[in-house]
Amino acid sequence: MTKSIDFNDRMLSLGLARVAEQAALASAKLIGRGDEKAADQAAVNAMRDQLNLLEIRGVVVIGEGERDEAPMLYIGEEVGSGAGPEVDIALDPLEGTTLTAKDMPNALTVIAMGPRGSMLHAPDVYMDKLAIGPGYAPGTVTMDMAPAERVRALAKAKGGEPSDVTVCVLERPRHQDIIAEIRSTGAAIRLITDGDVAGVIHCAEADITGIDMYMGSGGAPEGVLASAALKCMGGQMYGKLLFRNEDEIGRARKAGIEDLDRVYTRDDMVQNDVIFAATGVTDGSIVSGIKREVSHFTTETILMRSKTGSVRRMIYRNPVSAM
Ligand code: FBP
Repeated sequence: MTKSIDFNDRMLSLGLARVAEQAALASAKLIGRGDEKAADQAAVNAMRDQLNLLEIRGVVVIGEGERDEAPMLYIGEEVGSGAGPEVDIALDPLEGTTLTAKDMPNALTVIAMGPRGSMLHAPDVYMDKLAIGPGYAPGTVTMDMAPAERVRALAKAKGGEPSDVTVCVLERPRHQDIIAEIRSTGAAIRLITDGDVAGVIHCAEADITGIDMYMGSGGAPEGVLASAALKCMGGQMYGKLLFRNEDEIGRARKAGIEDLDRVYTRDDMVQNDVIFAATGVTDGSIVSGIKREVSHFTTETILMRSKTGSVRRMIYRNPVSAM
């Protein structure tokens, strides 16, 4: 068992919620405007400004990219006031840039924080992901199993049939075979066009979302963020890095990864206590999106701490004049 390290997580969690809220509010004017880049930039700027107000000595371990490709919130950037606990930060100022630009469901601003050295420095490559919610025995589904086997194993653990299982998968040509195999079992598939952090989180609230399992490849940084969420909510997550070329292998080596074939568990990706906040940008099944009214904006944020397993949903009403 890892020894829990105190990083003032109880008080910092409220600050983290503000960071997520401000990033969402900044992108609000760009919802549905067809400009992914502008929406992302607005969220990045706001997230960075708010982070720098927190009493932390933070380092971005999952961020906007390598230093030479991202001017802000790049991997290795130091953030915070420079006083307070040393922490690792994983963030995605706008998870679902296309969802935001097209005003489609489940775009979120996402941030997680844990003690220094507690998070996997995942390079910006793909990760093969598998996740289920809480209440199942460890190893109920594994990366070694074929997709159909995972469905059958989960159905058995649920006490039902494969047709009682719903799997969430990113709709991509590369997932054609997985989709066909899952369907051959009789299970249902919820296809999403983007946003696999939300896709994974859905498994932790299967009674609300109707999703039991997440499968398929997506961004590795998003895999660490999703692990942080499941560490707070309960649930199992596995991830294996996927490399398409030498450059991607080089990125992994640079991030300190030696075993390129390793299957990471949730607790390998997030090794100590963590706090997690996500604010809805567009409406979704985890949190509502930003509501724009004449005099004010309203946001909903999910804020969680793994130490206590607490999950808060916070509504924030902000006058338009304050923005
Ligand atoms: P962005 O917000 O950076 O556009 O990422 C959205 C996303 O759907 C992630 O949730 C997911 O992990 C990744 O893109 C999948 O990548 P790809 O679009 O290349 O399949």
